[in-house]
Amino acid sequence: MERVRAILLIAGVFFFALSFLLMGVLPVVTLADVPTLTLAEVAPRVQESFLDLAERWPTAFTKSFGEPTLDAYHAALRRGREIYIGEGCWHCHSQYVRPVSNEGLRYGAVSVAEEYQNEMQRPVLFGTRRVGPDLTREGGKRSNDWHAAHFFDPKSVVPTSVMPRYPWLFEPVVGNVLPTPPNRDGLALIAYVQWLGTWPRPEVEAAAKEAP
Ligand code: HEC
Repeated sequence: MERVRAILLIAGVFFFALSFLLMGVLPVVTLADVPTLTLAEVAPRVQESFLDLAERWPTAFTKSFGEPTLDAYHAALRRGREIYIGEGCWHCHSQYVRPVSNEGLRYGAVSVAEEYQNEMQRPVLFGTRRVGPDLTREGGKRSNDWHAAHFFDPKSVVPTSVMPRYPWLFEPVVGNVLPTPPNRDGLALIAYVQWLGTWPRPEVEAAAKEAP
């Protein structure tokens, strides 16, 4: 009995060390030199949808970001990603179109490794499970006001939705007047989802086309 225990213990420690090496140390060593793109490279210009946010909700926008410049756009994308992480959107949404089950037809081009080699995927936002659809190619699929209505109350646009409401991403309601404009975090989150999968990377597009 003692011997069996000793063997199990040694095997346990050995396999723990092995997996640490293979899954922890090896990727760091092999991938350390692969360059990581910066935000400026994956968001080289202000998107039309960001200008639309500035026009649609001018007061809220100016208060939050001032003019819709490239710097403001980058600030919004960074903040949007923080909100995406902080609100746990990744509990229900993946950012990875898998090469199975015709996902390419449903969600857009299958994801390729290179798409994750940038600042906005540190840590990667693959997600854990899918209660809602994959968001890798969400940018441009819906309008800004669709997203605003949807974040305020998903059931208002998709009656069967189980996505929670996010009213704290909007200016406080005064009296009974709805809808209120998105606040800084709400605008940032909309800018972020509108950016997903839109950045121009010819290599990525070419690789995605070749993928099955
Ligand atoms: C409890 C799970 C859940 C959480 C948490 C969640 N969602 Fe969803 N989401 C869904 C479901 C289900 C749908 C599909 C129905 C719908 O459109 O509301 C959806 C749909 C969406 C869509 C529309 C996709 C499309 O084009 O059809 C977007 C965008 C989205 N979610 C973004 C977010 C963001 C951003 C967050 C975090 C603030 C979030 N979701 C949190 C479940 C969730």
